[in-house]
Amino acid sequence: MQPTTLAALPSPSAISGTVVVQTRNLTKQYGKRLAVNNLNLDVYQGDILGFLGPNGAGKTTTIRMLLGLIAPTSGTVQVLGHDVTPNGRTMLPRVGALVETPALYLYMNGADNLRAVGHALRGVDEARIQTVLGMVGLAARQKDRVRTYSLGMKQRLGVAMALLNDPAVLVLDEPANGLDPAGIVEMRELLRALAKEGKTIFISSHVLGEVQQLCTRVAILNLGQLVTEARPEELTQGTGQYIVFVENAPGALALIQGQPWGRAAQLDANGALLTASPDGRGRSLNKFLVDGGFIPDSIIYQSESLEQAFLRLTQGGAQ
Ligand SMILES: Nc1ncnc2c1ncn2[C@@H]1O[C@H](COP(=O)(O)OP(=O)(O)OP(=O)(O)O)[C@@H](O)[C@H]1O
Ligand SMILES: [Mg+2]
Repeated sequence: MQPTTLAALPSPSAISGTVVVQTRNLTKQYGKRLAVNNLNLDVYQGDILGFLGPNGAGKTTTIRMLLGLIAPTSGTVQVLGHDVTPNGRTMLPRVGALVETPALYLYMNGADNLRAVGHALRGVDEARIQTVLGMVGLAARQKDRVRTYSLGMKQRLGVAMALLNDPAVLVLDEPANGLDPAGIVEMRELLRALAKEGKTIFISSHVLGEVQQLCTRVAILNLGQLVTEARPEELTQGTGQYIVFVENAPGALALIQGQPWGRAAQLDANGALLTASPDGRGRSLNKFLVDGGFIPDSIIYQSESLEQAFLRLTQGGAQ
């Protein structure tokens, strides 16, 4: 097996698609602090963009500027081809958003919360309310007061609100917040289904395993600046190391360590062998071990997790 490099490949959506969200030199300064610093980002139709960064990196600030909730200090934002300006009304009907925790009427039930928001929007009928309640898995609890909802249920209701007007762009700030593992899987399936319909999804998250599975693109922000923008697979490229499960791993280790390419080999905490290969390929490592009398049960090419890549790219970034 040879490590593949995907760095040269643009996203499939970038080849054919339309830019739906675009920022140019987007900057937000609070006093001396640059919360967002010269951000240039293109999000294509149908993309699920994972917007990552340590606490204080500037994710929510960026999202507020995308939605026209706050004004940039400088730079521009376009959504669906329209310039976004604070209180500008042109884009909002086609954008659904959940920023941090949803604003809910706790004394009202779930369905009535949606009816209240639906009333303010146009064209939201009872059938749509029931559809979105079903989409977020809250149909059975719609008549309960929101006060009695769990954190995850409130979060789902917030996503339901964002979906009410059947938006073309969905902007979600940490939607996985408070969701249990089953809820995270349901949210992933929901967002995937929405992206398949052609919706564009911009999602900030700290749940990196989730982002790795869900997102077509990942943008990492650190100290207000874009560190990288790539497909998740690009960020989790191989480490050049293999994990080998073999009987008598210490014996195999000793053999490998006698080779120039194998001096750094070691056993992990579970006794599996971590090693490079004579020429980088799994088959050569396999042959070397078999020739030496060690027949591997399995050889796995080790790639970096998104979490490892994130920490590498943002080290020292938390404020
Ligand atoms: N209204 C404000 N006034 C002053 N500083 C602010 C304001 N809003 C945000 N900041 C600062 O801007 C920086 C970015 O904050 P932001 O909330 O965008 O981060 P974030 O990436 O969303 O972090 P988290 O992962 O914790 O949600 C932080 O240093 C924060 O203190
Ligand atoms: Mg935030």
